[in-house]
Amino acid sequence: MIILEGLQDQVVLVTGASRGIGRSISTALAGRGARVVLTARNEVVLHKLENEIMLSGGKAEAVRADISEEKDLSDLFKLITEKYGKLDVLVNNAAVGTFGRLSEFSIADFDKIINVNLRGVFLCCQKALKLMIPAKSGYIINISSMQGFKGYKDQSAYAASKHGVMGLTKSLASEVQEHGIRVSAILPGGVDTELIRQARPDLDASVLIKKEDIAETVLFLLSLSDRAMVDQIIIRRRAASSF
Ligand SMILES: NC(=O)c1ccc[n+]([C@@H]2O[C@H](COP(=O)([O-])OP(=O)(O)OC[C@H]3O[C@@H](n4cnc5c(N)ncnc54)[C@H](OP(=O)(O)O)[C@@H]3O)[C@@H](O)[C@H]2O)c1
Repeated sequence: MIILEGLQDQVVLVTGASRGIGRSISTALAGRGARVVLTARNEVVLHKLENEIMLSGGKAEAVRADISEEKDLSDLFKLITEKYGKLDVLVNNAAVGTFGRLSEFSIADFDKIINVNLRGVFLCCQKALKLMIPAKSGYIINISSMQGFKGYKDQSAYAASKHGVMGLTKSLASEVQEHGIRVSAILPGGVDTELIRQARPDLDASVLIKKEDIAETVLFLLSLSDRAMVDQIIIRRRAASSF
């Protein structure tokens, strides 16, 4: 990995870092010199990624946490507070998806999706703000989805969670602007990961957005000057219809 200038000594937390888009965002941020705190439930995979980043000359620390468990998040943020004393960037990326007709959808699956995808984002934001508000700076990037403003069949619970993330993002952005904190949402269409293979098994991998495209979008947001603010970025598959 070539370490580029840009995010030296910035402390960044990426949720859902163990695979897919989160893994790609984590390696991209580490490649710009950030200290990346990697979190997800699969500790073994997280530690492998931590080693990979460190061996390439980057800075990373794997900390297992289930974002639907408040205790896990309290422990994670305690560690960040004690070890680094600050959090410059939070990337809320972790999410789950189960897909099917609403009429037959299990209540347990609905609750799980809302607990991880929406409540987990709420909890991470709340805990991050305890560090960001006193510092009068910080950037929260929420990985939402095309399902944050559209609704496709068989995706009602997932779409509800992502619409919720958009509501949270919009409200929070206006709440924390006065504290010098930025909040943006990225809304991707189909990206080549495990999640899309469950959601849209009909789509061929060759037409899906690359994980790296989302990582580049995160880097772009972080590269803007203090004078500019991007509220949301919608990234669709090139083969999907425009606007
Ligand atoms: N792929 C797409 O087409 C697409 C499109 C639009 C938006 N998105 C969004 O992009 C983000 C990343 O999705 P992806 O496609 O990369 O999915 P993915 O490959 O399934 O990865 C999901 C990540 O979230 C972690 N995770 C799941 N539940 C968790 C929990 N309770 N606590 C902590 N971590 C948890 C997983 O790790 P563990 O299993 O180790 O916990 C994994 O690292 C999600 O917000 C998703 O909604 C994806």
